Amino acid sequence: MLLHLDASARRASFSRELSRRYAETWRAAHPDAGYVYRDLAADPVPHIGEAWTELCDYVLEHQITDIARYKEAVRTPAQEQAWAVLAPLLDEVVAADVILIGTPMYNFSIPSSLKAWIDQITFPKMSLAGRSFVVTGARGGAYGPGTPREPVDHEERYLRDFFKGHFAVEDVTFVHAELVNACLDPALAHLRGAHEASLSAALEAVSR
Ligand SMILES: Cc1cc2nc3c(=O)[nH]c(=O)nc-3n(C[C@H](O)[C@H](O)[C@H](O)COP(=O)(O)O)c2cc1C
Repeated sequence: MLLHLDASARRASFSRELSRRYAETWRAAHPDAGYVYRDLAADPVPHIGEAWTELCDYVLEHQITDIARYKEAVRTPAQEQAWAVLAPLLDEVVAADVILIGTPMYNFSIPSSLKAWIDQITFPKMSLAGRSFVVTGARGGAYGPGTPREPVDHEERYLRDFFKGHFAVEDVTFVHAELVNACLDPALAHLRGAHEASLSAALEAVSR
């Protein structure tokens, strides 16, 4: 199953266009594999609350690593409510073979809508090994290898580190459309050609 998430606050969005094309390609190649779509910007998941942290603490204290057993942590009405929010999100992740995330870079990092989703579905010592993550991103500047801004790309670095370090997922792919701000910022007009080249390469990659 392909779980497809989008996180851009814009509807006319580069990261949405890239994820949409990736999903089209994937679904054409796997017509019977199933598909779930979730728009984290239009339909945001709530931030975790205290009852969620109680579930998390229970899972850690009781060394529950089997996701199917997390429900044992639910003991109070508030925890029931927290569980009702997170369980469908978690079910989608567990059922997925590929988790596709269309996301902009916001303030050197990820949108809070995406972070809220990550917080909801993540528990201690939780493995998603065997699955793949694909991230289709868009950013105003350029953060590739050798650029002055490479060290402040806390979007790709964070997601890569988290998916590998916490979820034990080795298969993580990023495709970025860069220099998007060159379309808007007159001071970056000279970089419009570089933006076009980045976008074309990204569109080609996701269509492959
Ligand atoms: C709130 C906000 C913060 C942003 N922060 C950054 C940033 O730190 N670095 C950057 O290169 N671009 C930044 N941008 C530009 C976006 O990454 C760019 O517009 C991108 O195209 C957004 O993706 P989308 O087209 O899918 O909406 C920001 C845009 C917004 C709206």
